[in-house]
Amino acid sequence: MASIGQIIFGSMIFLIVVISGLIIFILAIAFSVSQGTVESRSPSTVGNLAEDVVLDCRFLSNSGNAQFSDVSITWLKDSLSGVVYEYKKKAAQLQGQNAQFQNRVQLFSDAISMGNASLLLRNVKLEDEGVYRCSVNAPKVSGTTSVNLRVAAFSAPTFNLESNGSLSAQANKWFPRPEVSWLSQSGQLLNSTQIINNTAGIMNQVFSVLEQPVKEDDTYTFLIQNRLVKAVSEATVSANRVTGRTYFIFSSASTKVPSLQLLFTVIFVLSANQ
Ligand SMILES: *[C@@H]1O[C@H](CO)[C@@H](O)[C@H](O)[C@H]1NC(C)=O
Ligand SMILES: *[C@@H]1O[C@H](CO)[C@@H](O)[C@H](O)[C@H]1NC(C)=O
Ligand SMILES: *[C@@H]1O[C@H](CO)[C@@H](O)[C@H](O)[C@H]1NC(C)=O
Ligand SMILES: *[C@@H]1O[C@H](CO)[C@@H](O)[C@H](O)[C@H]1NC(C)=O
Repeated sequence: MASIGQIIFGSMIFLIVVISGLIIFILAIAFSVSQGTVESRSPSTVGNLAEDVVLDCRFLSNSGNAQFSDVSITWLKDSLSGVVYEYKKKAAQLQGQNAQFQNRVQLFSDAISMGNASLLLRNVKLEDEGVYRCSVNAPKVSGTTSVNLRVAAFSAPTFNLESNGSLSAQANKWFPRPEVSWLSQSGQLLNSTQIINNTAGIMNQVFSVLEQPVKEDDTYTFLIQNRLVKAVSEATVSANRVTGRTYFIFSSASTKVPSLQLLFTVIFVLSANQ
């Protein structure tokens, strides 16, 4: 049997533990809130070889959208010495920049004061793949976020009606080697022949012919897909003409579930005559 004294003592210990837990919790929230937020809207980004890519990073203070003066931004890349880009005292500080990024990176200077710390990387190369860290220090904001950049090559296909009436698709720039398929309007897999070659270095050229006659107003879905990018094209046949629309879906790396994908932006509208 516990004495009254022991019960009171036990309850007090219990209360102390609970209250200090609460205080720590409240302090942690207050602390993190007072430091604002640094975040990326695309923590997993796929760059297109030889083109430009934006590594997204933005910062917000707790008290809504202030205009930020006195911002410092540092972009680092994991297991790479030096900085990718550094911005302090309203100017680029590039003494410590790794040679890999010389003359290839910049911030959107007009947008920094609005909380935009995104990095523009020009002429993406395979060796640019990796994890980038965006660190921001500004009044009421302090934090780091990361962007995982992977590099592929992708291009929208063009569609053609061959002289024998077959529908063909061609895309010139794919890496890694993709697979292609045609689907009917109802989503059924259709027979086709394809040539995928990489005569020009690592880049694959894709050519595919649908093995069935096409009719006016038919719409077909043409898919080109590798582990990083999926191009979805809708090709519509009208009198002697094919109109193709393509959008790209990029696989997201941060999660290992392949079905969780980021639907991306670009929509190409391509018309091919005859
Ligand atoms: C920053 O600005 C660039 C250029 O306007 C834009 O592409 C990017 O989406 C912006 N990023 C954020 C996080 O606002
Ligand atoms: C039609 O032409 C294309 C390209 O010239 C060829 O690949 C395809 O096999 C031909 N289709 C038929 C049904 O002959
Ligand atoms: C597709 O090809 C297979 C094998 O060559 C053939 O048996 C099948 O009938 C074809 N399907 C269509 C819809 O043409
Ligand atoms: C494949 O390679 C041949 C020979 O180099 C070339 O003529 C052709 O254009 C390439 N592309 C496709 C899609 O066949």
